[in-house]
Amino acid sequence: MSTRKIFVVNMILLVLCVVVFTVISLVPNDAERLEQLQENYVPNAVSGEENTWAYFLINDEYPLPEGYKPQLDIVQGQFVMDERCAEYARAMIAAAENDGVELCVVSAYRSIDKQQENLESYTKRLISEGYSPEEAEKLALMEIAEPGKSEHNAGLALDILTYDWWETHDDVTADFENTKEFEWLQANAHKYGFIMRYPKEWEETTGYTYEPWHYRFVGLKYAGEIKNSGLPFEYYYKMYF
Ligand code: DAL
Ligand code: ZN
Repeated sequence: MSTRKIFVVNMILLVLCVVVFTVISLVPNDAERLEQLQENYVPNAVSGEENTWAYFLINDEYPLPEGYKPQLDIVQGQFVMDERCAEYARAMIAAAENDGVELCVVSAYRSIDKQQENLESYTKRLISEGYSPEEAEKLALMEIAEPGKSEHNAGLALDILTYDWWETHDDVTADFENTKEFEWLQANAHKYGFIMRYPKEWEETTGYTYEPWHYRFVGLKYAGEIKNSGLPFEYYYKMYF
């Protein structure tokens, strides 16, 4: 290759490197996005019933107290949750039905033992798919909380899919976001005190992969406000509660 050609190829590579580096450095991380949101965010007037008992954080950093067991009430079929929010969940399901949308609850309250069982069976499945035990455990923990650290153990969370989900899927996936059930939940869940708890943009902060099917009761007063703020519950809780 002539010296001139080598020079041109090198220049093209240099320009490509600069473009790639610029694009990468322009994508904000969680901390930068939080700063932008906080700069632009003006809290709206909140309204609605106080459900102060529901204002608490459950995650890796804030596990449930040992032996925590809510009083339970039926939400749908055999699925139960904390009796204090079961009625809101039933109202939400009824309102969706009224709009021609059938929400199918596939998980609600889970005992500590059930949580352990879910985590173990998912880890085993990942190992059977070829992951090493260490990788499998790490990946499983990005989708299933450790026992005592799950909102399902508190009876505050619902996993919702479509009734025909298992006809076309053999797993719970983010495909749920392409359904009318998800669209309805996006527009209405907050009116019943529920938020989508693990949004796509905040995986670093929540510690979990995007779960468009997981709805957490935070109470009527703040659910809409939390949704509008664009903040994950971790930040909203620390800033405003
Ligand atoms: N899938 C959520 C993180 C849970 O197990 O609670
Ligand atoms: Zn869930």
